[in-house]
Amino acid sequence: VIFSSSDEASICVAHEIADLIKSKQAKNEVCVLGLATGSSPIRVYEELVRMHKEEGLSFSNVVSFNLDEYYPMEKNSIHSYHYFMHEHLFNHIDIPAENVNIPSGTVSTEELHQYCIDYDLKINDYGGLDFQLLGIGRTGHIGFNEPGSHYNSGTRSITLDHITRVDAAPSFLGIDNVPKKAITMGIGTVKKAKRIVLLGWGANKASILKETIEGEISSEVPATYLQEHHNTTFVINKEASEEL
Ligand code: GLP
Repeated sequence: VIFSSSDEASICVAHEIADLIKSKQAKNEVCVLGLATGSSPIRVYEELVRMHKEEGLSFSNVVSFNLDEYYPMEKNSIHSYHYFMHEHLFNHIDIPAENVNIPSGTVSTEELHQYCIDYDLKINDYGGLDFQLLGIGRTGHIGFNEPGSHYNSGTRSITLDHITRVDAAPSFLGIDNVPKKAITMGIGTVKKAKRIVLLGWGANKASILKETIEGEISSEVPATYLQEHHNTTFVINKEASEEL
């Protein structure tokens, strides 16, 4: 779906999420959301916060699982996705703290493998993700599933692509400060979601979105695996659609 502005698109996506939360509330069910970081979803979170404050939208029945985290990374670092999510969403809504799941950048290397397996098991215990929000990196990564990721991969640690580290460098004040590794939900984890919405804004995403939407399905562009998902919408703005 191509919107004339990312603002209008973000509000539409926020409303879909809010409607899902409310429909689950009406049935007394939890709503399991897979959440993303990066600049793309910020406006969606802003609208959800507005709906909470002005319209009484409650997140008390929401359980969230974030896609990824740098590794290693302290929770309270301004670079952590833990910090990002609290700044942009969790600090401003009524989601119970125990319902928030973000991969931990402080797990020891010895515990990491089991930690990742347990992350996926916990998602399954809740019956899977009802809704997964995604952005896309210039390498075609979703979460931090870099080129080469297997279509059936689970949550795991991954070595970041050079391009991904270059893109993150400004916010880390130099590439040398960007962690070389991350923990990411797998492609298999994401693809089990009942509904997926991928956001893409701006001309610098146009080329990777063309490959993602029109290209051959390949591990070289992990986001192409979404073409096989039965309920995925790519929500993009005009600038991002230029090469389609
Ligand atoms: C990071 C995140 C991704 C995100 C991507 C794009 O690599 N791990 O989940 O989609 O950045 O970020 P942005 O939305 O800022 O373009």
